[in-house]
Amino acid sequence: MIDRNTVQQIIDTADVVDVVSDFVTLRRRGANWVGLCPFHNDRTPSFYVSRNKQIYKCFSCGEAGSAVGFVMKHEQMSYPDALKYLAAKYHIEIKERELTDEERTEQTERESMLILNEWACRWMEEQLWDTQDGQEIGLSYFRDRGFTDATIRKFRLGYCPEDRTALYKAAIGQGYNRELLFKLGLCKDDQQGGGYDFYRGRVMFPIFNVAGKVIAFGGRTLKKDDHAKYFNSPDSIIYDKSSSTMYGLFQAKRAIAKQGKAFIVEGYADVISMHQAGFENVIASSGTALTDGHIHLLHRFTENVTELFDGDAAGIRAAMKGIDKLLSHGLNIKVLLLPDGDDPDSYSRKHSSSEIQHYIDEHESDFIQFKTRILLDGVANDPIKQSQAIGEVVRSIAVIPNEITRSVYAKECSRLFGVSEQMLLREIKKQIDTNKEEAYKQHEREERRRAAQEAASEPHDTPQPPQPDQAQSPHPVQQAPDLSQPTLSATYREERIVIRLIIKYGMCYLCDTEYDDGIRPTTVVEHIYNELSIDNIAFSDPTFAQIFDIALHELEAFYSALARMEQETAVRNREKCEREISEIDPVGKSVDIIENEEKRIRSKYNLLNVDEVNDFRQLYLERLLCSHANDRVREMSSRLATDRYQLSKIHTLYTHVASEFDRLANLVPAALNNWKNAIIGQRIEQVKQQLKQGNTTVNAATLLQDLQELYRVRTELAKLIGDRVVNP
Ligand code: CTP
Ligand code: MN
Repeated sequence: MIDRNTVQQIIDTADVVDVVSDFVTLRRRGANWVGLCPFHNDRTPSFYVSRNKQIYKCFSCGEAGSAVGFVMKHEQMSYPDALKYLAAKYHIEIKERELTDEERTEQTERESMLILNEWACRWMEEQLWDTQDGQEIGLSYFRDRGFTDATIRKFRLGYCPEDRTALYKAAIGQGYNRELLFKLGLCKDDQQGGGYDFYRGRVMFPIFNVAGKVIAFGGRTLKKDDHAKYFNSPDSIIYDKSSSTMYGLFQAKRAIAKQGKAFIVEGYADVISMHQAGFENVIASSGTALTDGHIHLLHRFTENVTELFDGDAAGIRAAMKGIDKLLSHGLNIKVLLLPDGDDPDSYSRKHSSSEIQHYIDEHESDFIQFKTRILLDGVANDPIKQSQAIGEVVRSIAVIPNEITRSVYAKECSRLFGVSEQMLLREIKKQIDTNKEEAYKQHEREERRRAAQEAASEPHDTPQPPQPDQAQSPHPVQQAPDLSQPTLSATYREERIVIRLIIKYGMCYLCDTEYDDGIRPTTVVEHIYNELSIDNIAFSDPTFAQIFDIALHELEAFYSALARMEQETAVRNREKCEREISEIDPVGKSVDIIENEEKRIRSKYNLLNVDEVNDFRQLYLERLLCSHANDRVREMSSRLATDRYQLSKIHTLYTHVASEFDRLANLVPAALNNWKNAIIGQRIEQVKQQLKQGNTTVNAATLLQDLQELYRVRTELAKLIGDRVVNP
């Protein structure tokens, strides 16, 4: 865990122009820097970087964020790794947070395991390249399979000798811990104080995590009659089969990001051969079915996935299984089957790159076409099979989170089966409801189980203090998993405007407010908090709620940082001011003129103070949120902070239009009133609905009264809002 102050220091020190320049050639344009966007194929420079705002944005593909966000995205690094990268660049010493004893043991064990795996990987490479057995058995096997030496090195393939104890002895000889060898699955306990090698006589495929560390191995037998073709590492604290990685992801991640697409294949050999054929955006689930963990990981790199499998029955089954999982994560999924008898490995060795590309272009089909083709194969005239097939496709469409995507597929399905689109949409809706109900029940079951567990494990309830280091809000919102999300709430638009003002201007001074203990200056975020509390309103969007929560929790730290900053600024500017005054050339000037000049200088520095403080207030929260550890918070903040008015040329063309900053006193109340108005509108609709349904539990007279009251409030609000346009 990087200590909180170090994180802050890194975020404060890293300069976005500087960081981006290491990867993109930037040219100066006005107040900004521009270059070709590294996240899409940019022909003319649409990538803007602002030193003032400490933010980058591509006006073509929309990618935006802070220095940390840039490193994460461009280098495909995790948040802590990106911070470490920046720390190294700026020579900031990383202070780790004090770990608990338990954490420390686990951490050192993790590190030791990674070190041992790395050593074993290198040792097995050496066996392959530098020993006679290795060359004759292992290396020649790989070469016979058509792997080039460069490929073998790229994937760090290796060989584990036949000798029962070669690896064990070498490791012990190097001083490595016996228990760790067992935990990693490299060796087995012989129950006599020694150990023997698990992978003896096998060629080795190291498995890397996203950062390129060896976390596991697959070892392939070279014997025809072996009962298990592959041996794989057991799960350990550094390797979780179902979520740590996918085979090849480390080598493929850049190509995936660049091409905006990944191919999923089944095996190690498939990945390697495809890479060698020039298709580097290929990864494998390695024998196990795709899990949510795999998909979540993959989703960090792309939204577009093609399953590339053998055309045989097993391949089809695997493809079918993966489809709904991938769809439910909102991925766009295609399927590509190879001619029967070929897997990606054999196919890519038989054909040239352009032939492979041609085959992909010709045969890649979306999941509906694929499912339809398979399900209707040979039963095109059987109405029962037909309706089963439709049911199957409907179930798939129903797991897609996005409504628009669903309707596109419904259209296609209607065309393929010749059934009415309306009917399909109704069926999909029904299925969604069923799924939701299922998910809800599942959620309830889990809740009950968890509650039971907690009750059992914690007899006394010690309230947990909020952990400032943790990305999550201290009051996480519990929600039933919703398979048909994201259905945006009716007030999403209004909430978005408010949260945007918070992100961009949250710590700016807004007004003086009367509190119990007197009148105090109040920031935008405090004012919004006060207003929302009065009416008991909360953000319905969970990411917005979290951002708001972070901002509120940051207030204390902000005020002390502000006090320091004001002090420093005042001192610095006073010194400069005095120096400038002492440098006034008095020759030939009257006392009046000199005094005037002095006054002018003083007021210049006073204004400068105010400006610097305002800049500090403005950037404080935006910078923090755009560099936040939580992915959704960081991404949402980056998006909202870099809307169309920022960094754009419009900015310089229309400088006479008062800036948002200057209009905050109007914008904030207006945005709040609009939100309240939307809520009232929503409630009015609800009450009307209840009246229409003739709900018996609530008295109609009461409902009518409620309605009157709501109308009254709405009229009041309307007076406040006027017809001023507040949309920023
Ligand atoms: N697999 C496994 N254990 C087995 C068989 C398969 O873990 N006993 C996993 C491996 O990750 C393998 C993948 O399933 O890569 C796909 O299996 P297969 O197609 O048989 O393996 P290939 O990688 O194609 O191996 P080869 O071409 O060398 O036979
Ligand atoms: Mn194979």
